[in-house]
Amino acid sequence: MKPADRTFVISGACSGLGLATVRDLHSEGAYIALLDLNEDAGAEIVKELGDRVKFFECDVSETSSVTKAVHGAAEWIKTTGKPMGGVVAAAGVGGAQKIVDGRTGEPIPIEAIDFILNINIRGTLDLVRLCMAHLVKVTPTSPDGERGVLILVASSAAFDGQPGQVAYAASKGAIASLTLPLARDVARYGVRVVTIAPSLFESRMTAVLPEKARKSLERVMEFPVRAGKPEEFASLVRQGVENLMLNGTVLRLDGAMRMPSKM
Ligand SMILES: NC(=O)c1ccc[n+]([C@@H]2O[C@H](COP(=O)([O-])OP(=O)(O)OC[C@H]3O[C@@H](n4cnc5c(N)ncnc54)[C@H](O)[C@@H]3O)[C@@H](O)[C@H]2O)c1
Repeated sequence: MKPADRTFVISGACSGLGLATVRDLHSEGAYIALLDLNEDAGAEIVKELGDRVKFFECDVSETSSVTKAVHGAAEWIKTTGKPMGGVVAAAGVGGAQKIVDGRTGEPIPIEAIDFILNINIRGTLDLVRLCMAHLVKVTPTSPDGERGVLILVASSAAFDGQPGQVAYAASKGAIASLTLPLARDVARYGVRVVTIAPSLFESRMTAVLPEKARKSLERVMEFPVRAGKPEEFASLVRQGVENLMLNGTVLRLDGAMRMPSKM
């Protein structure tokens, strides 16, 4: 699908990988519903990019909030006449905490696990299911009957999670695992699913990584020997949108880096 004159619902749209995707699809002529917690950043992006973007405050871990934001996006689509083309579920949180604290012997608080799973898994599925209700009603434009695409975000942690990444790796492994069954569920509607699993990418999330963790990753980079750039992520999202044969798959975007066990 060409992104021009289609509306994409992007969560986590106000920073990092989501924001780079917003800019890229916008530059191709797409309309973007920006879903994020960060209202101030949303206002700045709308000021910069203009009429083809609209901000909807949204906490993906709260169903009432996702429902309201998706409803708002659908109402906006009625006024622009630019049908929904897909979802990029880029809202996500990290977190590094071992299952048992090495110094105190205390287990990780269950709230810390719930926080990550609620945003990264539940939030992704909630957004997808609510948007699907709109995507199934889109009139297909191509001879193949394509209606839209769902782009999900996993991580290298889905495959080689590091110490302290149990909850995060569980959340991203779930996204990787659900990619194929989701693609099978939505295929009959002409909707595809593409999951991207990035390694270390420059973003607000990774800017706060402890030096030791960052160095441990830089040591195992193959080529290129640097963190990925958000634009490189966005460029693969665009390929996911445009290339009809990408479906039901998890694409590692990692320069052959495999995360090590020891830091
Ligand atoms: N940057 C990396 O190295 C990297 C690597 C692998 C996977 N990822 C994944 O990519 C996705 C984007 O991460 P990023 O690096 O761009 O991070 P980021 O922190 O720069 O951006 C995340 C955005 O999500 C929003 N967000 C957080 N919680 C939310 C919630 N409950 N509801 C709505 N919005 C919420 C934040 O406000 C922020 O704008 C995440 O799923 C992350 O796990 C990132």
